[in-house]
This record gives sequence, structure tokens and C-alpha cells, in this order.
Amino acid sequence: MQNVTIINHPLISHKVAMLRNKDTNTKQFRELVEEISTLLTYEAFKDIPTVEVKVETPLEVTVQQIIAENSVAIIPILRAGLGMVNGVHTLFPAAKVGHIGMYRDESTCLPQEYYCKLPQGIESKISILLDPMLATGGSAIAAVDLLKKKGAKNIKCMHIIAAPEGIANLHKAHPDVQIYCAVCDRELNAQSYILPGLGDAGDRLFGTK
Ligand code: PRP
Ligand code: URA
Repeated sequence: MQNVTIINHPLISHKVAMLRNKDTNTKQFRELVEEISTLLTYEAFKDIPTVEVKVETPLEVTVQQIIAENSVAIIPILRAGLGMVNGVHTLFPAAKVGHIGMYRDESTCLPQEYYCKLPQGIESKISILLDPMLATGGSAIAAVDLLKKKGAKNIKCMHIIAAPEGIANLHKAHPDVQIYCAVCDRELNAQSYILPGLGDAGDRLFGTK
């Protein structure tokens, strides 16, 4: 599928295996989500545009490529996306952060939006939407709808664990959006949880269950 990348890198799969383990505690879980997010960012931004600058080395002047300032906006979907922000900031320390509040209704599994605050100038930035879990895809689709309504044009979605259904639904709704997932799991269960998955990402990240 064009615009869909499943990273499947051994360094990432190793950390995802630890993340899935029910005995991984909140501190370890938080650290792993952050580390995986940095590794995913490295892959997701290999096509980021650069600008030419002149650099004077001790020996001569050379023309080099750097990333334009303020070119990236980090947009976590609350709550679990928050755990990925520091991992992206490691590589883009100056990036502004916007927040989209979204939760799945427990009976319908449909996304309910409750908050949206985005950085200024979103239309000229690359927006990287963060959520560790892409299950039905409903939350990511609604978040991309919102980002586009607010003017964002260049959007990437970054997830740690995805279900095949979620990838297909998000890609169908927003074929222009680049989707990056660390791994693609088997299926969703009757409650739309990802199998084998890792359980409820927000609860595991914040220790709420
Ligand atoms: C989880 C997850 C995603 C969503 C994925 O959030 O972090 O946002 O479910 O499911 P979907 O692809 O089927 O929409 P949740 O609704 O549990 O909210 P919370 O993290 O704030 O508890
Ligand atoms: N949200 C989660 O946190 N986990 C799932 O498996 C599905 C949705």
C-alpha cells in the first residue's frame, strides 16, 4: 500500500516485545514508548526537505544540507500519544506541540473529541500525529479530519502497534497521509482491542489500571 510503512526493524521489534509483556512496569513502559518513538521518527523523516547552508570547517567553506527551522509540529492524541512526544523531541527539539483530545466510547468504540489546541502556522509545517495504538483507525481518522480542517496539509501518522483493519481504514479515509507503524498485529478482538497487542496503552503508560 502506497504511503504505508511497517518498519519491522529488529531494534524496534525487540523493544516492542518488551512493551507487550504484561510484567513491564509503568516506568519501563514509558521509557520504551519514548525510545521506540525516537527510532520511528528517524525512519519517518528520511524524506524531510532540507535547505542549503554554507559551513566553514577549519579547512574550507562547504555547502551542507540542514533541516529548516520550525518545519515540524508534534501532535499527540491524548492520552497515550503524550508518551511519544519526548521521543520525537529528541530529534526535533524545537518542534512546537499541539494536542488533540480523543477517547473511544466504551460501548460503540467510536472516537469522541474533547480538546484541540494546535501551534500557529500549522499549514506550512509537517504535522506528525502520534498515537501508539491504531486499532479500528477511528481516532486517527477523526484526528486527521480535524488537522485538515485547521489547515494542516502535510501530515504523517506514527503508531507503534497497528491492526490491519486500522491501517486499511486510515489509508482509505486519508490516502495522502503517510502512515508509519512499528509493527502490524494479527487482528482486533470483539472489543476492538489489538491482538496480541499490549492492552490499554493509556492505562499502561499512566498506571491508571
Ligand atoms: C486508545 C489509543 C487510541 C485509540 C485507538 O485511546 O490510544 O487513541 O484507543 O483506537 P481506534 O483506532 O479504534 O480509534 P483510548 O480511546 O483508550 O483513550 P485514552 O488513551 O485517553 O484512554
Ligand atoms: N486502544 C488501546 O490502548 N489498545 C488497543 O488494543 C486498542 C485501542
